[in-house]
Amino acid sequence: MSGIVDSAPWAALEQHAEAFGDLHLRDLFAADLDRGTALTVTAGQWYLDYSKNRLSSQTIGLLAALADQAGLRDAIEAMFSGAHINATEDRAVLHTALRAPAGEGIEVDGQDVTGDVHRVLAEMAEFATAVRSGGWRGATGETITTVVNIGIGGSHLGPEMAHAALRSFCDGPDVRFVSNVDGHDIAAAIDGLDPERTLFVVCSKTFTTLETLTNARTARSWLVDALGEEAVSAHFVAVSTNEAEVASFGIDPANMFGFWDWVGGRYSVGSAIGLALMIAIGPAAHGKFLAGFHDMDLHFRSAPWPENLPVLLALVGIWNSNFEGAESTAVLPYSQDLRLFPDYLQQLDMESNGKSTQVGGEPVSWDTGPIVWGQPGTNGQHAFYQLIHQGTRLVPADFIGFSCAPDSPEPHHDLLMANFFAQTEALAFGRDHDDPHRRFDGNRPSNTLLAPELDPRALGQLIAAYEHKVFVQGVIWQINSFDQWGVELGKVLATAIADELIADEVADGAHDSSTTALLRRYLDERR
Ligand code: F6P
Repeated sequence: MSGIVDSAPWAALEQHAEAFGDLHLRDLFAADLDRGTALTVTAGQWYLDYSKNRLSSQTIGLLAALADQAGLRDAIEAMFSGAHINATEDRAVLHTALRAPAGEGIEVDGQDVTGDVHRVLAEMAEFATAVRSGGWRGATGETITTVVNIGIGGSHLGPEMAHAALRSFCDGPDVRFVSNVDGHDIAAAIDGLDPERTLFVVCSKTFTTLETLTNARTARSWLVDALGEEAVSAHFVAVSTNEAEVASFGIDPANMFGFWDWVGGRYSVGSAIGLALMIAIGPAAHGKFLAGFHDMDLHFRSAPWPENLPVLLALVGIWNSNFEGAESTAVLPYSQDLRLFPDYLQQLDMESNGKSTQVGGEPVSWDTGPIVWGQPGTNGQHAFYQLIHQGTRLVPADFIGFSCAPDSPEPHHDLLMANFFAQTEALAFGRDHDDPHRRFDGNRPSNTLLAPELDPRALGQLIAAYEHKVFVQGVIWQINSFDQWGVELGKVLATAIADELIADEVADGAHDSSTTALLRRYLDERR
């Protein structure tokens, strides 16, 4: 078996890691007084300080050589130019086309796609404007005051996260989000709503997803019970690539906003999947959101590796995972509005790079995607930071913060950000103490990402930076970041078990002894 670990750059990095040995961040900062400004980069509105990682500019040079060895430059061009880099599904990967200017001339299989992208964006803008202005009416002539977005995974996490992040830009109807097949989710979402003033946006790339279709059927019954069958067309729209399934569900394809198979679910927030977000913030702010993605796309495609923010995020992550032994990475936004960003990144990163098979089918013999977790500061400080500071496991962390928060009452933002800066300082430098319980060894790695303000453009740039980080890591680990076969088996087994639960019978030998006993206990207790 061979792979990236057999390459000369990988061997050089292993040697370098050994030579780096026990060097402490305190030593590294003492040896180079400019380190805190040298190991930084800016892209768009974002400033990345990666100096508080146990590495040097030499490490970055070696990691850049590893990226070259993996063919990163060609891989980036292949993605941006519409090659079928998602080999196991034989698809192009072109979420970058969703935010490219009209007339960019991006082709998939010889077909210009930017025209289609801008046609759908124009349809979305027209619809969003009508809903916001009261031009779109419910079946009884009432205006829409609440939008309920029904989706899951990539058809949910992005819009919900961005809607929360851009709370202060939301000036349209209220938006609620439903994802879980647990009936309490849809019940809570529609609780207290007036059917005459409610619009459902059903988002599903495939339009076959159990959770989404079950929730959509429940929502439909709720609406039909109140307003009758003929009300459906004024209260349901769909976002999907699958027109036939949308029609068979009973939504008029005229009320469907399309996207394409070259948009992966977890990369789809810039597609029509963001319709509810656009209704909430308006087409103009949504345009700035997409412009932010495009800013980062341009930077990513052109900047040399040591000045390339997404590439640096990726390389530092690889250093910490593959050469320093970290198994997870924490994402810690110091922004309550950005509280769902760790959830969003869990799918983006773990569904993309949680793989153990190389593109060519060989198993990998190196670690791939880390466990991604986190929650906003300062809340996390009072929950799990103890382990990050003094535990036995190495947990690299991305701290994400903003210099301004215009609608935050004084002195909250300064207090929030004082904690933001204090945490990375404490993690890196620690504190000596005679009492071992009170000693902080420090030498714990972190990145700091700072932008002036959480606005649509900065958010778009941030999401694109992480999309590209994940891509770069996938290229280096030689895996396909764009399929997700690992979610299939559970879905297949759940379908079979659902039939058994509905039939109220579990046949002998249908499952292992544990699963059989659990199912029978469930059926007994349910009775
Ligand atoms: O969980 C698997 C998955 O296929 C994700 O990749 C996807 O984002 C999600 O399900 C939802 O899929 P769909 O948009 O087709 O409903």
